[in-house]
Amino acid sequence: MTKSKLGLLAGGPSCIAHRSKLPTKLTVRNAKPDDYLGIRKIINSKNNRDSFGFLPKVVVDDAVKHQDAEGEKSQHRIRVVEDAEGRIVAFLRAYHRQDGATTLHEIGVAEDMQSSGIGSFLLTELIAASRKRGMEKVGLKTPVGMRSNGYYPRFGFKQVGTYTGRKRVLNCYELTL
Ligand SMILES: CC(C)(COP(=O)(O)OP(=O)(O)OC[C@H]1O[C@@H](n2cnc3c(N)ncnc32)[C@H](O)[C@@H]1OP(=O)(O)O)[C@@H](O)C(=O)NCCC(=O)NCCS
Repeated sequence: MTKSKLGLLAGGPSCIAHRSKLPTKLTVRNAKPDDYLGIRKIINSKNNRDSFGFLPKVVVDDAVKHQDAEGEKSQHRIRVVEDAEGRIVAFLRAYHRQDGATTLHEIGVAEDMQSSGIGSFLLTELIAASRKRGMEKVGLKTPVGMRSNGYYPRFGFKQVGTYTGRKRVLNCYELTL
């Protein structure tokens, strides 16, 4: 399927890939505590594993708790996409910091659902929500050499440096809002 059929919008010279609709039969909602197993399945699948660090249940529970209690004002954002059978096929976790920067901690799509626009939908949603609450930028880190390095520039993210973690080197990207 071509990108135009999927509804990806070409936007100027860098082909910024904003996407405002999910593929049919998929829905997006705030995460619930029970979603942890579905999220973990995405993270731990064979080909996704190397892209993620460890995501403990307590971190997901904390984000869900704050988001539920504080609604739109919450600094935590944890969203899931589910299919018609209730299977979690994608998730995104982010944090709106006090200093005006939103941090994208993880974004993941089930392997059999990748490249159908779901990640673009979640990222577009995050960028819009960050703008709406007056954030100045969105930042993220992704491991050097991974395919995802080609993904973020499509949304206007620019590489701003590298970060040497305990296990590997990560590229740092920022989108100015
Ligand atoms: C990266 C990811 C979130 C993108 O979401 P998606 O719904 O698959 O992607 P979209 O349909 O919105 O856009 C397609 C683009 O995603 C990227 N992409 C697709 N599969 C990917 C994968 N397994 N790993 C990294 N990037 C991928 C490609 O740039 C692709 O463009 P192309 O088809 O022209 O090559 C998703 O593929 C994923 O979860 N990948 C594995 C985990 C990962 O890399 N997470 C990010 C860590 S920072």
